Amino acid sequence: MCAHILATAAWPYANGPRHIGHVSGFGVPSDVFARYMRMSGHQVLLVSGSDEHGTAIQVKAEAEGLTPQQAADKYHTIIVEDLQGLGLSYDLYTRTTTRNHAEVVQEMFRSLYDNGYIVEHTLMGAISPSTGRTLPDRYIEGTCPICGFGYARGDQCDNCGHQLDPIDLIDPHSRVNGEIPEFRETSHFFLDLPAFADQLNEWLDSRVDWRPNVLNFSYNYVKELKPRAITRDLDWGVKIPVEGWQDEDLKRIYVWFDAVTGYLSASIEWAKRTGNPDAWRDWWTGENARCYMFMGKDNIVFHSVIWPSMLLGSNGQGGRGGNPSKWFGVLDLPTEVVSSEFLTMRGSKVDTSHGHVIYVRDFLREFGPDSLRYYIAAAGPEARDTDFTWEEFVRRNNTELANEWGNLVNRSVAMASKNNGAIPPAHDLTAVDTELLTASKAAFDVVGDLLAHQKFKQAITEAMRVVSLANQYISQSEPWKMKDDPDRRDTVLHVALQVVSDANTLLTPFLPHSAQKVFELLGGEGVWAAQPEIRFVDEGEDTASYPVLTGDYASEQARWVSRPIVPGTPLNKPTPLFRKLDDSLGETGPDWAPIG
Ligand code: MF3
Ligand code: ZN
Repeated sequence: MCAHILATAAWPYANGPRHIGHVSGFGVPSDVFARYMRMSGHQVLLVSGSDEHGTAIQVKAEAEGLTPQQAADKYHTIIVEDLQGLGLSYDLYTRTTTRNHAEVVQEMFRSLYDNGYIVEHTLMGAISPSTGRTLPDRYIEGTCPICGFGYARGDQCDNCGHQLDPIDLIDPHSRVNGEIPEFRETSHFFLDLPAFADQLNEWLDSRVDWRPNVLNFSYNYVKELKPRAITRDLDWGVKIPVEGWQDEDLKRIYVWFDAVTGYLSASIEWAKRTGNPDAWRDWWTGENARCYMFMGKDNIVFHSVIWPSMLLGSNGQGGRGGNPSKWFGVLDLPTEVVSSEFLTMRGSKVDTSHGHVIYVRDFLREFGPDSLRYYIAAAGPEARDTDFTWEEFVRRNNTELANEWGNLVNRSVAMASKNNGAIPPAHDLTAVDTELLTASKAAFDVVGDLLAHQKFKQAITEAMRVVSLANQYISQSEPWKMKDDPDRRDTVLHVALQVVSDANTLLTPFLPHSAQKVFELLGGEGVWAAQPEIRFVDEGEDTASYPVLTGDYASEQARWVSRPIVPGTPLNKPTPLFRKLDDSLGETGPDWAPIG
């Protein structure tokens, strides 16, 4: 049955280029999943964008002498290039500083407010004694009251992942000049999370097949639900759509409320751009709609508790009832929240602030996208924190991609092209032939089922098992010794090429760039696996244009089935698919990211 699959990837902060830790959390997993779902005939909408509000962007802008908008423009453009280079097939990768996004966020806020789920409270806000101005949460550092980590920030503890308020910190001090902030009463809006507790518990109880880490985090958070501030003392962000607050120049909607609503605003923007402004609804409501959200583990509760609460409230389905937003109608809660763990280097989180970081763009320039995609899928932090090492990267690239897969393609196409100049026909099949063909066909269900459940490591292992079976088959059959039996040689090469074609299909979600090449090596024409494009769009007259990622994925031919190869299709001499890397790279690292 064909479903509408909404796949979402967490919105990266527009405060720097992406590093391999970012893209192993939200990027590669969401793309592999979306590509597989498209290949299986589903209608996929993969959306995300740059997260451009909040203090993360203000801090960066200040450091570079830019306005927040200038910094967001600069890094949004860079991130778009990073994600395109990696071949992440977004239907729309947009940004949060659009007019459309502000309108959708304000409608979300208003519908929650009208249904009684947003309440006003005062809280203690931090003020810098030396300037008399608000001290943003991220500028405050102190000891985490939950885990005792000494460098927790006012918004979050990077050690235990808990969200914090500055007043919770033990020994708070300014990261700018070390001074101790004063706390003063300030009025804010709070999302009344306890009003959703029953609904959330019931819903979480029904999420039996989620990854255990996601369920654990979520249940723990739901146990201690408190109203949560969704406005901040800031002058950068979406304005608060409440009478008397719109003109308040120093208060804005909190960046997380704004960012998670991006999934909806990006879907709406996508629909507007296709010319059918209501098209987004098929992915957000109804029997046939499914939603899979991808992210790193520091983002879990925003997707598994806060965003679902916002949806419940806007639908009028929380403990206080209410009416669905007139614009949105009733929206479905996510089907699955899929979180990765952290990619680490020498045991600590890949992080720009600690100076050990590998940027996606440097990586792509030297090694191309598919070797990184392969590494992340096969050896990434799917279920536990996992170290990236150059040694393991070189080993995987050389043994698995170059020797196993690249060599299988190369030698089977080369032999057939030399002997036949075309795909040879199959004559009588022997037991070994049928055995291999059967194993390769059977892999479609096995790998497909694993991908549908986001078990990427197991999926790629099963796909690579087909590759090794084919290599064993060729080594044992020795077609190069069959000069006197051309019929048998044709059959062996035919079988090998059929399995190359099958394995290529199985590997397409992981290795879309090389899959296109293998498709062409086997005589295919046109687009096998479509790639994202950068387009410049605007929001009508007198608005600035901005780059987005989008793509024509409907034109691609990749389908999740074994396609019979056609004897007689001309074959040329192949060129190698993957470059072998020097072993010394594993010891030294590249000069732009040396192992220190
Ligand atoms: N920008 C946030 C981060 O990098 C993620 C936002 S995800 C969204 O941690 F759901 F809010 F969009
Ligand atoms: Zn902590």
